Amino acid sequence: MCGIVGYVGKNKAAPLILEGLKRLEYRGYDSAGVAVWQDGGFTVAKKIGRVANLEPEVAKLRLSSSYGMGHTRWATHGGVTDANAHPHVSSDGKIALIHNGVIENYASIKKFLAAKGYTFKSETDTEVLCNAIAYHYAKEPAPGDPTESRFVTAVRKTLRHAEGTYGIVVMAVDAPGELVTARKGSPLILGIGDGESLVASDVAAIVSRTQNVVYLKDGEVAHLTPKNFTITTLAAADVSPVIDKVTWSISDAELNGYAHFMEKEIFEQPQALENTMRGRFSEDGSTAQFGGLNISANEFRSYERFQFLACGTALHACMVTEHLIERFARVPVECDYASEFRYRNTPLDPNTLFFTMSQSGETIDTLAAMREAKRKGYKVLAVNNVVGSTIAREADGGIYQHVGPEVGVASTKAFTSQLLIGAMLALYIGRMRDLSFSDGTEIVQALKGAPDLVRTALKQADHIRGIARRYAHHRDMLFLGRMTLFPVALEGALKLKEISYIHAEGYPAAEMKHGPIALISEHCPSVFFVSSGEMFNKVVSSMQEIKARKGQIIAVCTDGCKLPEGLADEVIPIPECHEAVLPIVATIPVQLLSYYIAVELGRDVDKPRNLAKSVTVE
Ligand code: G6P
Repeated sequence: MCGIVGYVGKNKAAPLILEGLKRLEYRGYDSAGVAVWQDGGFTVAKKIGRVANLEPEVAKLRLSSSYGMGHTRWATHGGVTDANAHPHVSSDGKIALIHNGVIENYASIKKFLAAKGYTFKSETDTEVLCNAIAYHYAKEPAPGDPTESRFVTAVRKTLRHAEGTYGIVVMAVDAPGELVTARKGSPLILGIGDGESLVASDVAAIVSRTQNVVYLKDGEVAHLTPKNFTITTLAAADVSPVIDKVTWSISDAELNGYAHFMEKEIFEQPQALENTMRGRFSEDGSTAQFGGLNISANEFRSYERFQFLACGTALHACMVTEHLIERFARVPVECDYASEFRYRNTPLDPNTLFFTMSQSGETIDTLAAMREAKRKGYKVLAVNNVVGSTIAREADGGIYQHVGPEVGVASTKAFTSQLLIGAMLALYIGRMRDLSFSDGTEIVQALKGAPDLVRTALKQADHIRGIARRYAHHRDMLFLGRMTLFPVALEGALKLKEISYIHAEGYPAAEMKHGPIALISEHCPSVFFVSSGEMFNKVVSSMQEIKARKGQIIAVCTDGCKLPEGLADEVIPIPECHEAVLPIVATIPVQLLSYYIAVELGRDVDKPRNLAKSVTVE
């Protein structure tokens, strides 16, 4: 969601903050702002649009301070205006604040503060929170109290009355060289450098300065100075921090010659899949193994149902996983939108094991659904890419994806890695039940071959770019597939609409005749996923129904399929592969198709309008 970065140290703060904001821009990009402590007061620059719009404003100010903070916004409260951009400064000029999240009771706090004479320039809940901190800061009985504790105390007192979610960084005009930061529901990470301290919503903004990080937990308040940091709870109890080491470096988060992060991340997939499966097959080569499940094989075997929860792309990966677990392990699996599950109060079998999937590990709907399942006494395992993320920490155990930072807002390598983990889970559960040794070894061999099959699929890039040019002018598109290729169709449609703004729908190929067929004309092409095997003839029949209505067809087709002459207008071949690997390989052409169409249309591929990489508000 919003990107946050704060710095106290010995170097000029503004350039470091701007660099950090650029790395965080994928989290939100409606507007951006910076505040530094300078000459006894705050100097603030904020601007709607991208960080690049803000840079000249900041340059004009010639900021020399080494204390400051910055923010990229994804609007929740109030429109996209300069006034609503962060940082906000309290009306008495004492406190500056940046915030990610939503303060739900802001209206009553605002009323209270207005009666005390505080005034507001924006429509945001953040400015209300900022003034509330100023109110408590002004009220503290100052004599004898060190400034530091007065500052931290004011933040704590304010937050005890704040309902909703927040990740905040606060500066006080009387406390140069200090930042106070606190979180509830929005991620914050402290960077512990050499004579400098940082705080950010994402490691990407910290990793160029230090690899030593502390993941702040909900309900914690940290106080940072250049040489020191302390963490306490909202109730003022001391917390002993754990310093973790980040395992990736800054070059992982750079373009390295690619035009966009999405392109880089699409082409990184063979390596990403290798990283996901490294060390995760048993010595006898017949099953998968996972180090962090924290559940014994016996306990695992005792579960009679699995429930998967996720949002967006990750839910599509869960849907494929559902299919594969049911097929290999013959155990019933349910998938649900995390946001729906949380409120629906579904009757659950007591012998159910929960899984959440989330690249970021911070999606609030997934986190809230996980907490709901845990509250009801269920164990939850999490599949996450971001190490140390909130979901990863709160889950009973889990599986890390190890694909490195995914910066493009539209998920690519994280998705195929989730598909791989789903297939490995299906194998693992299957081998505990009826799946034979030889079936197990066949699946392991197939999964090990996935990176090479993806390399082969990527070789179609130029061919797909040509197709993209021919189809980019359409306003609607259907994506149709069956079995595991139905969720891939959903993902293809999601990718296209996310980054090109072309309306697209994913449907089970046969279901298309129950409604979407009404959309078909020469103006609405369909992307079909076709594989050899039991569904081939049925998918061909669906293609014929489209063709009969003058619909153009792009067929993503395994090598072994013999399509009737002239049925498809465009064919994108993919290699024949095992059903456990097919969804991974079939995804590659639609990622490339969406990418090239978006480029053709001149869209901002890595930062599509209105979207954010991880959504930390409900
Ligand atoms: C946002 C992103 C999607 C992503 C979804 C879930 O909506 O725009 O691309 O699939 O969040 O994200 P997660 O981090 O939980 O996988």
